[in-house]
Amino acid sequence: MKRVLVATEKPFAAIAVEGIKKIFDTAGYELILLEKYTDVAAFRKAVENVDALIVRSDKATKDIIEAAGNLKIVVRAGAGYDNLDLTACTAKNIVAMNTPGQNSNAVAELAIGLMIYMSRNCMAPGTGNELKGKKLGIHAYGNVGKLVAAIGKGFGMDVYAYDPFIPAGLLAKDGVTPETDVKELYRRCQYVSLHIPANDATKKSVGYELFSSMPKGGTLVNTARKEVIDEEGLLKALMERNDLKYASDIAPDNLPRMKELVGARVFATPKKIGAETSEANINAGLAAAQQIVDFFEKGDRRFQVNP
Ligand code: 3PG
Repeated sequence: MKRVLVATEKPFAAIAVEGIKKIFDTAGYELILLEKYTDVAAFRKAVENVDALIVRSDKATKDIIEAAGNLKIVVRAGAGYDNLDLTACTAKNIVAMNTPGQNSNAVAELAIGLMIYMSRNCMAPGTGNELKGKKLGIHAYGNVGKLVAAIGKGFGMDVYAYDPFIPAGLLAKDGVTPETDVKELYRRCQYVSLHIPANDATKKSVGYELFSSMPKGGTLVNTARKEVIDEEGLLKALMERNDLKYASDIAPDNLPRMKELVGARVFATPKKIGAETSEANINAGLAAAQQIVDFFEKGDRRFQVNP
């Protein structure tokens, strides 16, 4: 009997866990749940004797992968897989997958919500601004970026996108103006929504130069990863210009200092909540479970992300 560990420090909604269990029951697999663990040692112990692993943002480090004696597959129920040590997985012949697109709508809705929150003075009394008629820049046009663009258009925003991996024709088909230079995107748009993955090429790639080039009232919304931000550069721009705003789904490391220096022009959710909806949990959780069954039963490796 195959044994599957779901290790989620931030658990799936109960309804998603029920669905995951049903998929494994039908396949004749055993589900082991490790939720809300506070000590990584508990994760290391639980992974020792399982064939498959599902995680969210839980860090499947080299240490965890090496402790997993029987592991054949790890699925990140979500989009970003910067929490998986792919080299360690490949070295042990373990297939690593994500579930692209499954939680995108939740993240896209939050990105727009953060834009509204910032443009309405964090819901405090006072005169704000509307999104309608403003320019929205999408920095990376993947599953989430595409949805943010569509919602933005619904709000009457004029949408631009920079993504060197997406043909300009595809953007134009969605009614989005392609930008070939990322600097031009920031220079042009009052709102920029960030959707780049965190990797060696993108870490600290958004900082002073891009942020400080935004037009008056420029608002940067980050529902991607905190690691892609150069926090010192961002703070420098915020201190130089008192019209700039930054909203992030997960606190920057220097949040207390930023708040002290620029107040409500910086906002961060206390814990990452982009994908924290029942719908997203169901979509991503069930997809992860099904991908594991399809891998073992049919050899399906469609969503593999490691070489
Ligand atoms: C993702 O990469 O899918 C999102 O950041 C969601 O992460 P979470 O599963 O930790 O909420």
